[in-house]
Amino acid sequence: MDIAKVLIFDTTLRDGEQSPGATLHTDEKVEIAKQLARLGVDIIEAGFPASSPGDLEAVRRIAREVEGPTICGLARCVKSDIDAAWEAIKDAPKGRIHVFIATSDIHMKHKLRMTREQVIERTREMVSYARSLCEDIEFSPEDAGRSDPEFLYQVLAVAIEAGATTLNIPDTVGYTMPDEFAALIRGIRENVPGIEKAIISVHCHNDLGLATANSLAGVLAGARQVECTINGLGERAGNAALEEVVMALYVRRQYFNLTTNIDTTQIYPTSRMVANYTGMAVQANKAIVGANAFAHEAGIHQDGILKNRLTYEIMDAQTVGRGESTLVLGKHSGRHAFADKLAQMGYHLDEEQLNRAFARFKELADKKKIISERDIEAIVSDEVFQPEEVYSLEHLQVSCGDHAIPTATVALKGPDGQVIIDAAHGTGPVDAVYKAINRIIGVPNRLTEFSVKAVTEGIDAVGEVTIRIEAEADDVANLPVNPQTGKKVYVFSGHGASTDIVVASGRAYMSALNKLLAVKRGKNVQADR
Ligand code: KIV
Ligand code: ZN
Repeated sequence: MDIAKVLIFDTTLRDGEQSPGATLHTDEKVEIAKQLARLGVDIIEAGFPASSPGDLEAVRRIAREVEGPTICGLARCVKSDIDAAWEAIKDAPKGRIHVFIATSDIHMKHKLRMTREQVIERTREMVSYARSLCEDIEFSPEDAGRSDPEFLYQVLAVAIEAGATTLNIPDTVGYTMPDEFAALIRGIRENVPGIEKAIISVHCHNDLGLATANSLAGVLAGARQVECTINGLGERAGNAALEEVVMALYVRRQYFNLTTNIDTTQIYPTSRMVANYTGMAVQANKAIVGANAFAHEAGIHQDGILKNRLTYEIMDAQTVGRGESTLVLGKHSGRHAFADKLAQMGYHLDEEQLNRAFARFKELADKKKIISERDIEAIVSDEVFQPEEVYSLEHLQVSCGDHAIPTATVALKGPDGQVIIDAAHGTGPVDAVYKAINRIIGVPNRLTEFSVKAVTEGIDAVGEVTIRIEAEADDVANLPVNPQTGKKVYVFSGHGASTDIVVASGRAYMSALNKLLAVKRGKNVQADR
């Protein structure tokens, strides 16, 4: 018997990028899209091309460079938006335009200032227009969860008549309960003429922590596409987390009797890549991908696990691409063994990246006897998941203590290959390092977040630092104005890893500053937010 498929529509690069603080530039978006293709998602919503020229360019590059999934661009029910979406996706072997318009009374009255009749007419016109450009059209009635179901049925019927092939039902504000959402999907299946011609999709937000539950309730009621994001990123409290939806369908496959095209072993590497590139750390107790998701602390649990893992584990960590956190490689491991281990962990590095990562591995193996997978992940994210360097950190040296004035000396290699050395003092060693770096680079910015964590236990653990900086943007930048200052700001994240947390902090700062410098020099202009 054939098992029906649920299509996985990933919107990390569109709704996910709308997460406050998640910033991605074009190269990072392309890398994430390639990783999403390896993960096996069916559709990648690569961006909202009308929102900025940078977004359009990022979607266009993904459409041209990423093989496998359908590449989708979002558009309001506005002709110029649809033109921008088409322009961005038209080179993809499989492209989709996703058009949306709000259908709840509150949105129509206060946001759109349109009547029901006008919304129906606009839907008809714009879906037909989009369909005249592209075969694959998705239509979303925004805020469907709070829309009058009878009106919703009418709008959806018109969208199908006009050529929509997928009907996506968003719970835009995360308001519905799972049984209500399931009833809404059933109602649509029973009352919308022509519904058998379209795929029903669900798109749930997590404002009440119900995004995954609502998505799965929608699937049980007949939806066959789920829209989700890696690590549950997304507007406000986020979207349904891809890893949760996929693993629920996988672990409880007898219950759902459904399958997906996802290679579950790619889940964890994808999660790490997205966390590193966006600077949005994953909470330790996050299902599937959090640091503690497979850790057993209580004595009774540890005892049970030792006797039989199934006592307290409903899935094997390896199924989601997480290995055992024990010794994997040591000082004498060669390049070949290191490359093999990376491949097993789901990392696909080019020759030059592999050389850099291997050099860092050797450096670490000299300091630390036991190198775990977590250490290797930290090396990869520090050495490989980094922006192109305008300045690179050559040396860093600090002097500090309870009676000393914290002082740092740094050496940076500049764009012309020249090494520049400077020094500064500060309130602590990290402050001193950042001030010394600023004296060389000279681009004003403000540190807004700083976090440090050890990736493994023990005194010789590698420390990972994640930071966020803000810098004033030009008025012309396509950015919201900060209501407090009346100014536009760029926000960039950076991360770094080392057994020395001051060095990790310096690397993290350089990673954020290099993103800022790239934008200032006119590269990857939509890197901003
Ligand atoms: O949440 C929402 O309604 C959306 C739509 C654009 C689908 O993101
Ligand atoms: Zn959304």
